[in-house]
Amino acid sequence: MSNGLEDVVAAETVLSDVDGLAGRLIIRGQPLEAMAGRSNYEAVLSLLWDGFFPDLPTDLRQPLADARVRVFELLGVDLHLVADRPAFDAMRALMALLPDGTELDSALLLAAAPGVLLPALLRLRDGEEALAPDSSLSHATDMLRMTTGAAPGAELAKALDTYLVTIADHGLNASTFAARVVASTEAGLTSSVLAALGALKGPLHGGAPGPVLDMLDAIGRPENAERWIEAQLAEGERLMGFGHRIYRVRDPRADALKAALQRVGKGGAVDTGRLALAAAVEAAALRALKQHKPDRPLDTNVEFYTALLLEALGFPRDSFTAVFAAGRVGGWIAHAKEQAATGRLIRPKSRYVGPMPKVAA
Ligand code: ACO
Repeated sequence: MSNGLEDVVAAETVLSDVDGLAGRLIIRGQPLEAMAGRSNYEAVLSLLWDGFFPDLPTDLRQPLADARVRVFELLGVDLHLVADRPAFDAMRALMALLPDGTELDSALLLAAAPGVLLPALLRLRDGEEALAPDSSLSHATDMLRMTTGAAPGAELAKALDTYLVTIADHGLNASTFAARVVASTEAGLTSSVLAALGALKGPLHGGAPGPVLDMLDAIGRPENAERWIEAQLAEGERLMGFGHRIYRVRDPRADALKAALQRVGKGGAVDTGRLALAAAVEAAALRALKQHKPDRPLDTNVEFYTALLLEALGFPRDSFTAVFAAGRVGGWIAHAKEQAATGRLIRPKSRYVGPMPKVAA
C-alpha cells in the first residue's frame, strides 16, 4: 500500500507525459518548449480533444468564443448570488449550474466558463459591472480584457496564452485523477470538472501561487531572503513554489513561465524590484533546500513563476488558482473522455485497520 499512490500507474494516456528525472513534459507528442509562447490555448484544446469528440471542428477559436458568450448569457444573471464568496468558490458554484453532458457542447461551455466567470466575479467584487465576452477575440485576450476592463497589449495577451498553454495538462496530477475517477462512473463532464476543481484548490496542488506572493511580501528585500527561509524551514514549514511529487529536477513549466515573465518585463509591465526579490528568494530557497534535505532533490515548481506572471498580468493573488483552472480545464475534459472510453469503473481497495466486531463468548 502507498498512501500517496506514488509510483502507482493508474491509467494509460495519450495526453501528456511527465518525465520527472529528465524534467521533460510532452503534450500529445509535442515538447512543452515547442508549444509555450508559440501555440495558443485554442490550438492546445484541439490537440488535447482530438479523437474524443466525433464532431470536433479543426479550429476551436470561434466555437470557444461562442461558448464564452453562451456562458455569460446562461450564468450572468446568477453572478450576484455568489459574488460575495471567495472568487474560486463562486466560480465553482456557477460552473455547477452548467449542463452535465458528455458531448462537445458541454465541453466547450466548461472550457469557456472560467475565462468568463472569474473576470466577471472580480469586477463585481470591485464594484464594477461585469463585461460581456467579445467573440471576435482570442480566449486569452478576451479573458484579460474582461478582467482589467481594457483591451490588453499583444504582449500581455500572449503571456496569458503562454500560461494557459503551459498548464493545460500534466499527467495524472491530483485534480486530473479526481476528474478521471468521476468520469469512470459515467457521470457527466461538469461532475468531473467540479471534482477536479475541488482537488486543485488545495495549497499542495493549485493553491500554492497566492502564498508564493505572501512569502515574497513577508521577505520584503533580497537581503532578508536567507534569514526568513531558514526560519521557515526551522519551524518545519514548506516553501511554496518548490518541490514536486514527480520532478526531481527543475519543473520545465517554471522556465516557460519565467521566459514569458521576462518578455512581459521588457515591455515594462513587471516591477524590476519585484523580479530582483524573486530571483534572490529563489536562489536562497534552492540553497537552503539542498542543505536541509540533501537526500530529496527539491527544485522550483510551476507555481513560483505562475505567481509572478499572473501578478504582472493584473490578477489578484486570491484568483490565481481560478486562472490555473481556466487552463487545466481543457486537460481535465480530455482525461475524463479518455477514462470514460475505457468503460472501466475506478474502484481501488482499502485495507481495514479499525476494530473488529466483538464475538459473543
Ligand atoms: N519546502 C520544504 N520542504 C519540502 C518541500 C518544500 N516545498 N517539499 C517537500 N519538502 C520536504 C518534505 O517536508 C519532506 O521532508 P522529510 O522527508 O524530512 O519529511 C521531503 O521533502 C519529501 O516530501 P514529500 O511530502 O514526500 O514530497 P511530495 O512528493 O509529497 O511533495 C509537494 C510534493 C506536495 C508539491 C511538496 O513539494 C510541497 O508541499 N511543495 C510546496 C507546495 C507547492 O509548491 N505546491 C505546488 C506543487 S505544483 C502543482 O501541483 C501545480
